[in-house]
Amino acid sequence: MNNIKDQENLNQKKILLRLDLNVPIKSGIITDQTRIDKILPIINFLLKKQCKIIIISHVGRPKGKVNNDLSLKPICENLEKKINKKIRLIKEDIFNLKKEDLFIDSKEQIVFLENIRFYEQEEKNDLNFSKHLAGFADLFVNDAFSCSHRAHASVSKITDYLPSFAGLQLETEINALKKVTTEIKKPVSFIIGGSKISTKIGIIKNLIPRFDNIIIVGGMANNILSYKGNQIGKSIKEDNCESIIEDIFETSKVHSCTIIYPEDVKVGKNIEDKSQIKELNEITNDDLILDIGPKTINKIKNIIENSKTVLWNGPAGYFENPNFANGSYEIAKKIIEKNKSNLIYSVAGGGDTIAVLNQINAINDFNFVSTAGGAFLEYLEGKELPGIKALN
Ligand code: 3PG
Repeated sequence: MNNIKDQENLNQKKILLRLDLNVPIKSGIITDQTRIDKILPIINFLLKKQCKIIIISHVGRPKGKVNNDLSLKPICENLEKKINKKIRLIKEDIFNLKKEDLFIDSKEQIVFLENIRFYEQEEKNDLNFSKHLAGFADLFVNDAFSCSHRAHASVSKITDYLPSFAGLQLETEINALKKVTTEIKKPVSFIIGGSKISTKIGIIKNLIPRFDNIIIVGGMANNILSYKGNQIGKSIKEDNCESIIEDIFETSKVHSCTIIYPEDVKVGKNIEDKSQIKELNEITNDDLILDIGPKTINKIKNIIENSKTVLWNGPAGYFENPNFANGSYEIAKKIIEKNKSNLIYSVAGGGDTIAVLNQINAINDFNFVSTAGGAFLEYLEGKELPGIKALN
């Protein structure tokens, strides 16, 4: 994998720069800017080399349709302020754009293409779409490790049509995860939570051979609770997961991996509600499970206490409402306590996990924080990520 930092003669080169600026946005306000901060080094590097930069990113899952709520405008404006440079957001249909349209003003150094997932061709890894994008630039740089698990046009196929390079953040992420997978100290525990159930549930089984404990919290745990015969009320859940869960428990026996899931929970009637602690047998039809309860927190703390390595991906509850953030905060605090005494190696990953850590100002208290969620998990599974494979 060639890194852009080792390239000479970048002066005035047009660079198609794939970033993952998929940041949380609430009513037009970016609620966590970490992913933007992490790509400032590549932008500054390319600017210093006098390159012309065409930024490509997605936000959310617009499924091939224009959706103004998922415009990159707030992100573009945020980046403009951070680097103190004008950036033009190009809203025009990409298919009507030509290379000459991009840097009309010779002083212009950065343009932003609108959300690339507004085009259905992106997720289809479409050949003609990739070719068209490639026509805008001289080189391609992937600095989006966190979406390199997607075989999408602007991540994967594009590399067929342009000389392609890894970016600075992508290399940092890969090096840190390589270290975790090769120098791991046991016992090793993995905490997996969050609400992207469909992306994660199939992955758990493949992680079992590598871990001593897998702690399942967040939306995914609802599937386990339901499988075990508990009422979960109106809580989110993935359909048709019974056989996956059966497999998880069977595989865990073979590999002596302990699967931990909630013993008690915090519920509300809606996501804005106050919280109420409930035993599993007290959950009613109109309850939403939104956090783990105190018994579960103690159990998890005990496991962290006895671990040498802890990996964490996905919050334990609906942390956006402070009434349901306690489970995630308590997990973070315990990991940090052990980390400060140098007793564990800790890695956290994923946009929501980062948001939790930022809320308690703890982003620098872990050994490594990855901006990646799904890509982080697939890397740990030992899978070759399509975006990385394409660069190789
Ligand atoms: C992420 O947030 O993990 C990446 O941006 C990928 O997003 P996706 O799960 O919608 O593909």
